[in-house]
Amino acid sequence: MKQITRTKIADLLKREDFGAEVNIKGWVRTRRGNKQVSFVALNDGTTINNVQVVIDLTNFDEEMLKPITTGACINVNGRLVESQGQGQRAEIHADEIEIYGTADPIAYPLQKKGHSLEFLREVAHLRPRTNTFGAIFRMRHHMSFAIHKYFNDRGYYYFHTPVITASDAEGAGSMFEVSTIDINNPPRTEEGKVDFSQDFFGRQTNLTVSGQLEGELGAMALGAIYTFGPTFRAENSNTPRHLAEFWMIEPEVAFNDITDNMDLAEDFLKYLIRYALENCYEDIEFLNNMYDKELIERLNFVVENDFVRLTYTEGVKILEESGEKFEFPVSWGTDLQSEHERYLVEKHFKCPVILTDYPRDIKSFYMKQNDDDKTVRAMDVLFPKIGEIIGGSEREEDYEKLMTRVNEMEMSTESIWWYLEIRKFGTAPHAGFGLGFERLMLFITGMANIRDVIPFPRTPNNAEF
Ligand code: 4AD
Ligand code: MG
Repeated sequence: MKQITRTKIADLLKREDFGAEVNIKGWVRTRRGNKQVSFVALNDGTTINNVQVVIDLTNFDEEMLKPITTGACINVNGRLVESQGQGQRAEIHADEIEIYGTADPIAYPLQKKGHSLEFLREVAHLRPRTNTFGAIFRMRHHMSFAIHKYFNDRGYYYFHTPVITASDAEGAGSMFEVSTIDINNPPRTEEGKVDFSQDFFGRQTNLTVSGQLEGELGAMALGAIYTFGPTFRAENSNTPRHLAEFWMIEPEVAFNDITDNMDLAEDFLKYLIRYALENCYEDIEFLNNMYDKELIERLNFVVENDFVRLTYTEGVKILEESGEKFEFPVSWGTDLQSEHERYLVEKHFKCPVILTDYPRDIKSFYMKQNDDDKTVRAMDVLFPKIGEIIGGSEREEDYEKLMTRVNEMEMSTESIWWYLEIRKFGTAPHAGFGLGFERLMLFITGMANIRDVIPFPRTPNNAEF
């Protein structure tokens, strides 16, 4: 074949230099035609749009063209031609074609007909080649970039917290253990317990549930930091909003109080949604048309309106007086379920909500205690269709108060001594939060199940791929 520099299809579809010789490479979505001419819709992952390759059969050997079926990968030299049909402005008239890889029509699972999202989860090795997942994974990339850009432009430092830790940041105990001990024949102590002093790290370790504790150390030195990494929760919650492995973004800022924290969360979320609308519009439009006709409207609404801010106590009062039948009853002191959060957001306020000042007993040990002796300076951001998208708080910076809480909760200080000690050396007010990246992706794509916004979801009983 003649050597011509490859053009990506996203760039090709913007070109108007009709007549130019071009090269494109990609995967065949469909092939149709008649005895004289074949039309191949080709996609290379750079855009939701395919380019049409027109093959004049008088110029090609029919046998050679036979394997050009859905899923095959081909390399095409041709001329850029103004399209006669509707839709695309440009198409390619093929001069030379090389087949890189065939895809047997009987064996290849992604034939032309529409597939259910459930089926596509079973072929996660191939689903990035569909329009839907191409759009979602391109958007995941753009949103990751936007997150770094947001913080970088505002003087935050990307602080790398460990994936393997010996502490339980949320104190919830839902951790995956990390060990090189032979589980069939572990070394034992004299009392018969597993002897972790002989394990790889000389102690018991686990995958992190949150980078917050180490993030706070960063904020107490660099002023404003953020983390962005994988976090792990071994909770057996099989819901459309929980993963066992998910990505979390955690800013932590010295001298911020809870109001600053809320302002940051609201500004950050609006920035990200605006960024998606400005940079991923074609993909969003596709998802809007295919899955969720109110998606674009909802995204615009969130960008344009102030979030409602109220306390947990006020929220519970609204729920109690709502007359609504909830599956889980609600009263002051209970943790809010997704149905309660969504009632406040979707039915009552019809707007994103930030709930603050939760009961101390349902929140983590590190949250700043209010003077009422009952509540802490927590904040959860609640979104339509999602429920909790962000959880955060102002932190307890007072060593004595923090220790009192740690002791009340009967927590071991052995694995968090350094976290506690930072309160003794130049302690300062500070606050932060965690945004679940896949919850954000759910909101921005309009998808209903969190398994469909991450390439390879990890959930109970599923670690395929
Ligand atoms: O509310 P969470 O548990 O808060 C923390 O981990 C704090 N250490 C954050 C901080 O203050 N720095 O989790 C934060 C967010 C949730 O609001 C939710 O968006 C997401 O992480 N999240 C999950 N996303 C997917 N699957 C799960 N199992 C999740 N658990 C939490
Ligand atoms: Mg939370």
